[in-house]
Amino acid sequence: MRIHKIAAIPGDGIGKEVIHAGLEVLEAIASRDGGFELDITHIDWGSERYLSTGEFMPPDGLDQLKSHDSIFFGSVGDPRVPDHLTLWGLRLAICQPLDQYANVRPTRILPGINSPLSGVFENDLDWVIIRENSEGEYAGQGGRSHKGLVNEIATEVAIFTRAAITRIFRFSFQLAQSRPRKHLTVVTKSNAQRFGMVLWDEIAAEVSREFSDVTWEKMLVDAMTVRMTLQPASLDTIVATNLHADILSDLAAALAGSIGVAPTANLNPEGNFPSMFEPIHGSAFDIAGQGIANPIATFWSASMMLEHLGEKGAAKRLMEAIEQITSNRDNHTPDLGGSATTRRVCDAMLNEIHGRNT
Ligand code: IPM
Ligand code: MG
Repeated sequence: MRIHKIAAIPGDGIGKEVIHAGLEVLEAIASRDGGFELDITHIDWGSERYLSTGEFMPPDGLDQLKSHDSIFFGSVGDPRVPDHLTLWGLRLAICQPLDQYANVRPTRILPGINSPLSGVFENDLDWVIIRENSEGEYAGQGGRSHKGLVNEIATEVAIFTRAAITRIFRFSFQLAQSRPRKHLTVVTKSNAQRFGMVLWDEIAAEVSREFSDVTWEKMLVDAMTVRMTLQPASLDTIVATNLHADILSDLAAALAGSIGVAPTANLNPEGNFPSMFEPIHGSAFDIAGQGIANPIATFWSASMMLEHLGEKGAAKRLMEAIEQITSNRDNHTPDLGGSATTRRVCDAMLNEIHGRNT
């Protein structure tokens, strides 16, 4: 029996609701599969902990995580705590030291879900966005001086290194190569940002030589928003910097119907550290506690986690179950225009996984 050790960190807001549902579904798929078991550690890090102790995670938190195979994360963010503290106190405090440098964000129009783009259906939008997840605009370099004075200054320095750019391109070309279209779009802003972004373009050209069967092209990020909206079928695999891909992935999620279905994997591809899987949507305090959060993004993230753990069959079955569920509009939560509850969607998934009729 294969045993996978999972650290579950629900975090804040709807993170708690969707991770609860996600763990039920993961347990169901493991028992259905029969070949593996999940050994779950429940971890209560997040803003509540910060408000009572002054820390989002304990000082030995990273060591605790390192003894796990994967991290299953909900969201972090609380109206009582400034957003930059929650981000740097927990999410980036995990991603960066565990060197989860490849953030992978698949986007598809799932069956039964409508794109806001007219005339765009399931097969017209099938992308994977890869976000450089270790540096760039999220490098954490900068500072503030002369606080409160008229001459107050702040710097926010983006860092681009040859090592990090090269590894994210190798990863991106490989991922593009594994998909039928074998096509990679490299997004930058190298007309205006003439150092870091030009280095991106140069290294893209260098790494592309290792992948002669992959076609690739360059796009400027502003033009990319237009292309994603007007010619979605022309794109396949996309790589961009930390901030650019953050923005493009929200656009992608909206074009595919809802941010409530969008998943993420924060990968350390070499497996030196555990990777982390999470829905993109965040803590959504406006709907927290109402039981109406869409758990589909978490289920899809769970499928990516199983894939990464080598449980390919279970990952595929989970994805098929998700598609069955979304194809029935009675399972659509309010973000998709329906009135289903988290509980209903989760129960429908459990029935689907166990092959029960409802
Ligand atoms: C994301 C989110 C985060 C980010 C937020 C919660 C800080 O938007 O994962 O896309 O910007 O990285
Ligand atoms: Mg984002």
